[in-house]
Formats: sequence, C-alpha cells, structure tokens
Amino acid sequence: MIKKLLKSVREYKKDTILTPLFMILEVLMEIFIPLLLARLIDEGINKQDMFAIIKVGVELIFIAFLALIFGRLSGKYAAKASSGFAKNLRKDMYAKIQDFSFYNIDRFSTSSIVTRLTTDVINVQQAYMMIIRIAVRSPLTLIFAFLMAFFINHKIAIIFMVAAPILLGSLIIISRVAHPIFRRVFNTYDKLNNVVQENVRGVRIVKSFVTEEKEIEKFNNVSDSIYKDFTKAEAILALNNPIMQLTVYTCLTLIAWFGSHFIVLNTLTVGEFTSLITYTMQILMSLMMLSMIFVMITLALESAKRIAEILEEVPDLQNPENPVFDVKDGSIEFNNVSFSYFKDSNKLALKNINLKINSGETIGIIGGTGSSKTTMVQLIPRLYDVTEGNLKIGDVDVRNYDIRTLRNAVSMVLQRNELFSGTIKENLRWGNKEADDEELVKVCKYAQADEFISKFPNGYDTYIEQGGTNVSGGQKQRLCIARALLKKPKILILDDSTSAVDTKTESLIRKAFSEELPETTKLIIAQRISSVQDCDKIIVLDNGSINGIGTHEELLKTNEIYKDVYESQMKGGDESGK
Ligand SMILES: Nc1ncnc2c1ncn2[C@@H]1O[C@H](COP(=O)(O)OP(=O)(O)OP(=O)(O)O)[C@@H](O)[C@H]1O
Ligand SMILES: [Mg+2]
Repeated sequence: MIKKLLKSVREYKKDTILTPLFMILEVLMEIFIPLLLARLIDEGINKQDMFAIIKVGVELIFIAFLALIFGRLSGKYAAKASSGFAKNLRKDMYAKIQDFSFYNIDRFSTSSIVTRLTTDVINVQQAYMMIIRIAVRSPLTLIFAFLMAFFINHKIAIIFMVAAPILLGSLIIISRVAHPIFRRVFNTYDKLNNVVQENVRGVRIVKSFVTEEKEIEKFNNVSDSIYKDFTKAEAILALNNPIMQLTVYTCLTLIAWFGSHFIVLNTLTVGEFTSLITYTMQILMSLMMLSMIFVMITLALESAKRIAEILEEVPDLQNPENPVFDVKDGSIEFNNVSFSYFKDSNKLALKNINLKINSGETIGIIGGTGSSKTTMVQLIPRLYDVTEGNLKIGDVDVRNYDIRTLRNAVSMVLQRNELFSGTIKENLRWGNKEADDEELVKVCKYAQADEFISKFPNGYDTYIEQGGTNVSGGQKQRLCIARALLKKPKILILDDSTSAVDTKTESLIRKAFSEELPETTKLIIAQRISSVQDCDKIIVLDNGSINGIGTHEELLKTNEIYKDVYESQMKGGDESGK
C-alpha cells in the first residue's frame, strides 16, 4: 500500500532526499554545541581565560549559524517535497477517478471520494513532511546525544537506558488504543460530507419542504459523533504529555543528584555537568518528537489506506485488447441479456431481454417507475456491463468496441441530466468541442431550444449557473438534447428527457428528429403515451422483463399494461398523468 502511494513522489524525489541530508548536518552541529559549552565553562570561565572564552565563543556562534542554515534548507526542501507529493497524489487519484465506471462510483459514493481527495491527502502530506524531517532528526539526535552523554559519564548515561524503554512502551500502548477510534472518525467524515453535499445540492428542496430543522439535526448528529470520537482519541493521546513530563523531570532530578555527587568527588567538571543536562534535554525532546510522529503516522496510515483504495481500484470497464474503432450503424441487438447492479447478488434488474432494433428506427420505451427502463438503456453506451447474455451494436458486441468510440456513437440524455457552470455555447460544446456556431444553432433548432435562447439578452453566451439553476426545467432538458445531438450520434437515447416540455414543443422535437435524423436510431423513454405513440415500435417493460413489443395500435389490442396506461391518461384528457 505504502509503495503504491510512494509512486506519486516522482519528481520530488530529489527534495525528499535533500531534506534528511540537511537535517543530518543540522543535528551534527547541534550535537557539538553542548561540547563547546562545556569547554567554554571549564577552560574559559572557570580558569578566567579571556582568550579561551572568545575563541570558543566564536566557534559556538559559527556552529550555531551553520545549524541555522542547514535547518532552514532542510525545512525548505521538506515543504517542497511534501506539497509536491500531495499534488501528485491528488492528480493520480483524479486521473484514476476519471476511469471509474458507474459501478466503481456506486461503490465509493461521491462524498467519500471528495473526502479522500481533500482531508486524507492533507493528512498524508503532513505525515510525509514529519517523516522526512523529524523521523530522521529525532532518532539521530537520540543516538548522538546518548553517545556523547555516555562518553562524558557512562554511569549517569545509564539513567537514560532505563527511562527510554519505559517511555517508548507507553507510547506504543497509547497509539494502539487510539488507532481504531481515528479509523471511526474518518468514516464519520465521509458521512458529514455526504450530509453537507446532499443538503447544499438540494437546498431548494430542503427549503420547499421546510425540513431545515431536520437537516440541521442530521448534521449535528454526525458532527457530534466526530466531536466525541475525536475527544476520546485525543484524550488518550494527551496521556503522552504527563508521562513525558514525569520522565523528563525524574531524569533531570536523578542527573542533578548523581551529578553533584560526582562533582564533589571531582570525577565530573561543572562544564561537563552542564552539557550532560543539555544532552538530557535533547534526548527527551527527541523522544517527545518521536511520540508526536507516532501519533501523526497513526492518523495518516488510516488516510493512506483510504487513498490507496482509490489508486488500487480496478476500473470495472476496461478497453478490450484489440478494440473496434468503427461503429457500422445504429442497429441494436439484445440477446438473452440479464443484468444485476450487484456483483455478488442474484437480484436481477433485467431478466432475459431479447430484442432487435434496426438502424434508424424510432423506439418508444414505456413502463412503471422502477421497471428498469433506465437500466436497460444504460447498457447500450456500456455505462454498465451485462451480467449475462450479450448486447450488440452494429453487429459487434459492445465489449469489443473502444469505449470512447462506442460512447461517441451513442448519445444519451440522462434522466438526471446536468449542465455545468459556463456559457450555453460552452455547455453545448461538451457534445462536440469542434462544432462551429452554425452547427450549435442547427441542433438547438431541432431541440426547440433556439427560440428561447435567442430571447435571452446574451443569447448563446448566456451564463449558466452551476447545476443550471437559472434556466427552467424544460429549457434545461432542451439544452441537454441539443448537446446530445451535437455528437451526431448513430444512436440517440432520451431518458425521460422531455418530461418538463409541453406536449406541443415535444411533438415539434419529435418531428425534427424524424425529418433531420433519419439515419439515427432513436430510443425514447417516456411516461406519456403521447410521447411514444408514433414510434416504429414500443417496448413495454415490467419489472425488468419485456411485457410486450409492437406499434401503438397492436399494443392497444394485445397488451393489458399498455391499454391501462393509455386509458388512464386519456381519461379527463390528462396528458401529463402517469
Ligand atoms: N445504481 C444503482 N444501484 C443499485 N440499484 C439500482 C441502481 N439504479 C437503479 N437500481 C434499481 O434497479 C431497478 C430499476 O431502476 P431503473 O432506474 O432502471 O428504473 P426506471 O424504469 O428507469 O424507473 P423511473 O421511471 O423511475 O426512471 C430499481 O429497482 C432500482 O432500485
Ligand atoms: Mg429511469
């Protein structure tokens, strides 16, 4: 897992290596300082030798200055290495997510993907910086300072040998206990993001249903749970501090005690005693730093795991080895197709679909809500793969096409369509980057969108707000249809895409389709019989199976469901009834 993440270090390897190198130099300088201090006291101050004081003093300042420069350089490279690493991690995750199929996205959930791209990357970035700086610095200081202390007076150095294991042992226990709590906190973060995302996206619905209070409560609950877990984890981690303090002061007291004894016995000089105290501080400080890193790593490991999950996810839909790059025509053939959204369940959303559609035909699809209309058409551009059977387009199995080729040939207006922030022109060109203005106007005329666009003061340059909030539902649908047409698809799928358009405009769109796009196979999912009754064939779906196929007249005679829907919609002339 760590290996996978480290691949993203790439061009920042140099900075990653330079950081600890300068760190080592800094540590070496710092280790010399107490030694010089001892000489300053013993040779200079105690003997009242002015020359020695100045000489050692200059040396001290010089070494301290070097330590400063090395420290600064190592800090600079550390910052560059860690933020560069984070940048690459985000890039790699983002690129990977672009390859995700609908199945992969379903598996992670959008909000969890967002948390992983933001919070988790920041955690790893910080830990990385700590590791390349402090994780090098502390053990080095620890070892050197200990060696120096040992060299000055090995009897006193024994004190550290007792204190250090006690300290490390308690640190390990603490982090073991805190780890599972952090894990829970991260999962709750996903939930928090989910609540916020849903609420902010659906803010109009929240307001119109006056459910603000319920939403606030939902948010507070998740927020509370993070608060509680964090307090718990941090409280455990906070034990670090008293344990640390206790050890530090015990060590200092012991050293003062033994030290003064040795000074009286004349086996230790005052200067040596001072440097011993400094080394003690250095040793204990590095132990403290190590414990901090321990905590950071504990936290970051969880984040690293979550990032690795994204990087290691295998995109569910892969391009075949020798892909077909040409879609001959818009014919569609379902052979015994069954489909389930869940890989390990036999709950089928589509059962045994057999169907043949000729290129250029217009097909209507009708069926109650949840009857798998959307599911069926999503298989055509290979948004999901069939679970059983096969699906052919232009006589070739969809799994044999290059995915881009296939998706460019099949234009689908999704049931929950989206516009992006940008001008109308920019939005339309999602369909075809190279389309010129003339083409834009042409497809907008087919989709009956040109008329309302021309009425906007800025026409085709009108800015669409995020999510298309400043156009009406029906206008949005027509823009989405125009965008789909711009691809010049061989197959055009409209999933309930004219539900918010009035019947007259809708019939104009249908007319434009049959006159201007005779070669394109058109699949129209609709709730209104009037939307599909002129189709060459109408498919009636019921609970994932085909219940009947035929023209409007045929189905009226032979199909109960179709007849029921028709009669209920005709009653009282309610054309928009479902
Ligand atoms: N991403 C998904 N993951 C799991 N189950 C799904 C998913 N999408 C749809 N389903 C399930 O598959 C079944 C068919 O759903 P589908 O969206 O195809 O119905 P539909 O006919 O398009 O309905 P509607 O008219 O409401 O759009 C439903 O039972 C639904 O719960
Ligand atoms: Mg649907």
